[in-house]
Amino acid sequence: MNIPTQYQITKPIHQKTYLLNGELKTWTGKTSEVHSVISSTVNYKPTLLGSIPYMEKETAMKALTAACDAYDKGQGLWPTMKVADRIVCMEKFTSIMKTKRDEVVKYLMWEIGKSLPDSQKEFDRTIDYIYDTIEEYKEIDRDSAKFSKEGGIYAHIRRGPLGVVLCLGPYNYPLNETFALLIPALIMGNTTIFKPAKHGVLLISPLLEAFQESFPKGVVNIIYGRGRQVATPIMQSGRIDVLALIGNSKSAVALQDEHPNKNRLRLVLGLEAKNPAIILPDADLDLTINECLAGSLSFNGQRCTALKLIYVHEDVKDEFIKRFAEKVDTLPFGNPWDDGVKLTPLPELNKTEYIQELIDDALDKGAKVINKKGGETTENFIFPAVLYPVKKNMRVYEEEQFGPVVPIISFTDINEPLDHISDSNYGQQVSLFGKSVDSLSPLIDTLVNLVCRVNLNSSCQRGPDVFPFTGRKDSAVATLSVHDALRSFSIRTFVASKDNPYNNAILEDLLASGKSNFMSTDYIL
Ligand code: G3H
Repeated sequence: MNIPTQYQITKPIHQKTYLLNGELKTWTGKTSEVHSVISSTVNYKPTLLGSIPYMEKETAMKALTAACDAYDKGQGLWPTMKVADRIVCMEKFTSIMKTKRDEVVKYLMWEIGKSLPDSQKEFDRTIDYIYDTIEEYKEIDRDSAKFSKEGGIYAHIRRGPLGVVLCLGPYNYPLNETFALLIPALIMGNTTIFKPAKHGVLLISPLLEAFQESFPKGVVNIIYGRGRQVATPIMQSGRIDVLALIGNSKSAVALQDEHPNKNRLRLVLGLEAKNPAIILPDADLDLTINECLAGSLSFNGQRCTALKLIYVHEDVKDEFIKRFAEKVDTLPFGNPWDDGVKLTPLPELNKTEYIQELIDDALDKGAKVINKKGGETTENFIFPAVLYPVKKNMRVYEEEQFGPVVPIISFTDINEPLDHISDSNYGQQVSLFGKSVDSLSPLIDTLVNLVCRVNLNSSCQRGPDVFPFTGRKDSAVATLSVHDALRSFSIRTFVASKDNPYNNAILEDLLASGKSNFMSTDYIL
């Protein structure tokens, strides 16, 4: 195997420590092995990357207690700390994190098969996200460093933390999307329990010390294991204030159901989607084909924002399908570090079988695989299959494939895709390809009411991270963006006092003494 020296796995990482109540504790219990679907040998064999603790209820509850103690009924060091001091902790963490780039990128490639440039991008985007979050929080804090007066009452209004956050991220962005939850949750003064995704666990190992060194004890607790064994009892305790999860809507509902105090529980959820492309007869086909290619097959289609269904108008169907299928076949498959690679191994065991099932089901019901290489399978990969004509009774019409299969439907009546989007349980984004404003305008005006982002002549995506990322129905709860995430992980809370000499003198004393961290009109620059 031709693996560049710097990316070779010379020694497995046996992750023996975990972060609990500010201490890096040694795990002596059961462990589970972590394998990569990428082979290090000529004859295919998954590579052993290391092992992680296999935790169960007992440790999960210790992590919960640590997070609750750190919140300490609102009296904890972290939730009462000055905003400027929390920012110092976050900056310290980020400066240590930056030194771990190479290790994290290497494990992103091995654990989830993400290409080298995309893994680097995931790391750098996360660092940018943290710095942007810090700047945004300063702005929010500056805006609230004042008193309002209404009806004879002074009010000092700020955003305060919600409490204890359980944070669960997805395997396709195990660093970026998990941190897009964890960082705003932390900076707003919440305390957290964080369980890495099912794939992309060891890449967190280089960051454990950074968390330990940067935050007060109990503010970040990192546990390992299966959701059912560790997240379920934590939810059953009724002590979680926010479930922050990027993943599947069924798991999100199952976890919510475990919580006995439904109105206590706030939700920040980024869930699955079935984003369609709609190609109108006057679309620029060169541009459309490139965007649909990236939209449906970047990271092998394993993105919640991926285009998962392509509606193409009957008038341009033949040309689009032919040229699109030819282009799909030119995408190079290889290992993540191979130059120019576009398609990479699929990290989930049995994923190739699942994609094959979707293909077989569609073929049984009358679709064809249009591209020559579609469905070619190796030990860890199945080549993207372009399926046409896809019908309502096929599994791939409804199911979020989250992998390399591209279903295409032709239409003459625009109500066909519109009805589908309206009837669907999902409502994240759509890509709309066309030129004439007469046809685009009514469609835009309708689609914005069905999804949360209409991408004009471009594929769907989450970024730039300052834009709102959300969805309707089973696609999301709450909004994430640099700004919105800070709002999602906090609540407006304030101090009110009637305007009279007695209260005003106290207010002046409070401000002058600098003894309250909440009541302050200082500006953070
Ligand atoms: O898996 C869903 C991600 O939020 C998609 O993000 O559009 O930046 O790939 P992306």
